[in-house]
This record gives sequence, structure tokens and C-alpha cells, in this order.
Amino acid sequence: GLVNTKEMFAKAMAGKYAIPAYNFNNLEQLQAIVVACVETNSPVIIQVSKGARSYANETMLRYMAMGAVQMARELGSTIPICLHLDHGDSFELCKSCVDSGFSSVMIDGSHLPYDENVALCKKVVEYAHQFDVSVEGELGVLAGIEDEVSAEHSTYTKPEEVEDFVKKTGVDSLAISIGTSHGAYKFKAGQPVPPLRFDILAECEKRLPGFPIVLHGASSVVQEYVELINQNGGKMEGAVGVPEEQLRQAAASAVCKINIDSDGRLAVTAKVREYFGKDPKEFDPRKYLGEARKELIKLIKHKNETVLGSAGKA
Ligand code: G3H
Ligand code: 13P
Ligand code: ZN
Repeated sequence: GLVNTKEMFAKAMAGKYAIPAYNFNNLEQLQAIVVACVETNSPVIIQVSKGARSYANETMLRYMAMGAVQMARELGSTIPICLHLDHGDSFELCKSCVDSGFSSVMIDGSHLPYDENVALCKKVVEYAHQFDVSVEGELGVLAGIEDEVSAEHSTYTKPEEVEDFVKKTGVDSLAISIGTSHGAYKFKAGQPVPPLRFDILAECEKRLPGFPIVLHGASSVVQEYVELINQNGGKMEGAVGVPEEQLRQAAASAVCKINIDSDGRLAVTAKVREYFGKDPKEFDPRKYLGEARKELIKLIKHKNETVLGSAGKA
């Protein structure tokens, strides 16, 4: 069945790699994750956002996740698969996911005042741990493109808070803000990408030795996809992500979970646009979504093998 993050993270910490956390909303995305992770023998976290839940229906997604485990087993694989709630925003949402069989949840109180974040997180942990469900908390707010990503950035994680937060809440992992952001426009286009704040990560690591850190907003915004999209009627000029080399560096540190959604979205969009550019007569979704799925498999294998280092670690 589905597993929580405990053992995955312990091994990732010891082995200096990171577990991939891929978002899914539909069949083809999940099939691609399963095939790619089976073929690379990688442990994996499949995650569902609040938006995914309302798009696809929570019950549907949960059965799909159980189907993913079954599918992996039928492919002869024993890779561990965790079903995680991404960015849970209330106790009720987290409880509902715990009750319905998720093996891990995130409670994102990062926008709340510190004490409220602690209280909310603690409440979720107390509930989830009764059912052996792991909990991810967050400290610091991820930057948006509108914010100046500078040394003075006020929303980076404050290392002096992390020890107290983990102790008070009992969370199993902690997402931190060190310069990444969600989506396809992470940094100013046409300028050198500012390096992630590895100094903040190192400070957190020092205060929480051996504790699993999570990196959100970790898509690289693969430029081949952006170009393919723009060549086929799209308008995504200026889309920029986190260079792979920096993710490799993060994966080798206490970062045990790396969240990737946007790169998968870009792969699908690029391939669908390319398909219709070549064959505007096609109307069988299996044709163009099949191409998108093939590209997703390629992308995920590449991430597992050459960026996160999770390939062969199941
Ligand atoms: O954290 C954001 C994830 O990429 C999920 O995005 O809320 O649009 O499903 P979403
Ligand atoms: P990206 O938008 O960089 O893929 O980040 C995804 C994420 O953090 C999901 O929680
Ligand atoms: Zn996120």
C-alpha cells in the first residue's frame, strides 16, 4: 500500500539524494510518474493540491493513487509510493485527507503569524500521527516574481526559528524559503539567475541536524519546452526556473523532498501544441495526450537519474 515519508526521508538523508514529489491531476500524469519511477527504480511522492482535489475529485484521486501502487506492483516493482496533500490550508482539509487514506499531508501555515502557524501545525500533527500519517510544515514565504529576490528579502526562512518550530509542532519535515517560487516565472528574464540562499539552508541544517528539509518551487522551467510552446502559438517569453546544478546541490544536502509541478505542465503543453501544429486534424485525445505522456516519462526519468539522484534507491 501507500507509505508515509519516514523511511524514504531517512534513506534520502543518509544517501544524500532527494525524493521527487510530483503533482498530479489526471490519468496521464500519474501513469507517467509510475512508469518513469518504476523504470528508474525510484521512491516517489505523488502529491495532490487543493486545486487538484477540486479539479479531479478527492475520491477519484485517492483511488488513482491506490491504482498507481497496484500498477507498479504489476510491473514487477516494489518502489515505495507516498500519497501526499500539497499545501493543505486548514486542519479540516488535512483531517479529511488523513481520514480518506493519504499517507502524508502538508499544513501550510507559512502566511500566518509564527504562533498561529505553530498552533495549527501542532493540531494537524497530533491528529495525523495517530494514523501514522507524516506531516510537512513550512516556515518562510516563497517569493513571487513581483518580489525583489534580494539579500534583504523579508520572507526567507529565519533559521533562528526552525528548531523551536520543529520542537513545538512535532512535524516530520520542514519546507523552507531560500529563493525558489512557484510557477514558470521564478526569476527576472534576461538577467543572471540569483543563486538560491544555500547559506540559509546550511544554517537550518546546523540547527536541525539530520532533519528532512523540503524544497518547493523547484522546477527548472526547461527551456526546450518554453521554446516549443512559443514556436507553436504559445506566449511564455521570460519563463525561467531553478538551474539543475542548484537542485543537485540541494539534493545532496538535508533537502530530502523536491517538489516539481510546473516542468510537467510545460512538457504536456509543449507536446500538445507541437502535435496540433503538425496535425490539426487530429481529435483523439489519446493521440496528443499519448505524446505528452511519453515526454513526461522522459522528463521524470531525467530528473530522477540526473538531478535528484533518487534513481536506483527504491
Ligand atoms: O504549489 C503549487 C502546485 O504547483 C499546485 O498547483 O494549486 O494549481 O494545483 P495548483
Ligand atoms: P513548481 O511550480 O516549481 O513546479 O513547484 C511546485 C511545488 O512547489 C508544488 O508544491
Ligand atoms: Zn509548493
